[in-house]
Amino acid sequence: MKFAFFDTKPYDKPSFERYGEQRGIKFKFFETKLNEDTAALAKGCDGVCVFVNDNVNAAVIDKLCELGVKMIALRCAGYNNVDVKYAFGKIHIVRVPAYSPYAVAEHAMAMLLTSVRRIHKAYIRTKDFNFSLSGLTGFDLYGKTVGVVGTGKIGRIFIDICKGFGMNVIAYDKFPAKDSGLNYVTLDEIYEKSDVISFHCPLTEETYHLIDDKTIDKLKKGVIIINTSRGALIDAEALLEGIKSRKIGGACLDVYEEEADIFFEDYSGHIVEDDTLARLISMPNVIVTSHQAFLTEEALMNIAETTTDNIVEFFDKGMCTNELCYHCGRIEECRKNRTGKCF
Ligand code: NAI
Repeated sequence: MKFAFFDTKPYDKPSFERYGEQRGIKFKFFETKLNEDTAALAKGCDGVCVFVNDNVNAAVIDKLCELGVKMIALRCAGYNNVDVKYAFGKIHIVRVPAYSPYAVAEHAMAMLLTSVRRIHKAYIRTKDFNFSLSGLTGFDLYGKTVGVVGTGKIGRIFIDICKGFGMNVIAYDKFPAKDSGLNYVTLDEIYEKSDVISFHCPLTEETYHLIDDKTIDKLKKGVIIINTSRGALIDAEALLEGIKSRKIGGACLDVYEEEADIFFEDYSGHIVEDDTLARLISMPNVIVTSHQAFLTEEALMNIAETTTDNIVEFFDKGMCTNELCYHCGRIEECRKNRTGKCF
């Protein structure tokens, strides 16, 4: 089997080459992202393997179908970058629902600790032999209230970590986990009561701009916001205003609304055109990492293993446990629940 692998980074290759060889899949690695102009590179391939910022819209899906491509194998969990509704009945989509929820949850806590203990400032100071402490005062996490939005795999691990720090955890989920013992509250209560808010829900129409100028009004003064989920959960301009007005005490962002053309690339010698991002980065209480929360050895191996398993399972059996479509999650319409196949 042959798969065109888009948006390849050096850290992707070893694990995919290893598992691809074991399972008889030849990956053709391309550095470019998948879009309408690059879809033709998939000619002669059974499928494409894509990541979070490949734009799999209707036009791309049409081009892939014209080329006879049968599968879009996402090497990630989120699929908001794929027009799943348009793809239905035309091309099969598989994903990696979990590869290391620990990687993301631990990164969220790493960012939180960095922010509240000003490690990012201290690191730069001591590198310059500046050992002064002025401006480095932090606060204890112990006893503070953390509001967790989304209590799936990552959210639950983040909650356990926060409990280990002696934090008081409140949570919101559209579909609360039964018998979890979690203290579920409304979204408004999360906004009003939390000293720290961490987002671990998917990007959907409902979660688009959960943080905007209206919700920022409801927040506790000095709140720290962590987003390791998807950038568009937060209106970046409203966030910037919230930081400037001192309402928001800190932001830890692993994802950014307009990250698609910026993150994962080296712009160190360039002038970044995105003024909102540049202004956010310039703030002393904003920490930005470039969608790296997933990036651990364990996660990379798990991603390659599950992606190649998905491909083999689908081409062997004509169905795959990790296939998805726009009916997924809607019990009454989900054909996969009844037949094992989305279509
Ligand atoms: P999951 O599917 O296990 O959990 C998501 C939770 O969000 C579920 O409990 C679900 O009920 C809840 N949810 C759905 N709609 C909601 C809504 N409208 N409001 C509140 N909660 C809602 O997913 P998992 O593995 O925990 O991942 C969470 C998110 O983390 C993913 O959607 C993805 O966007 C992001 N992610 C980011 C990575 C990174 O490197 N920064 C890596 C992996 C995932």
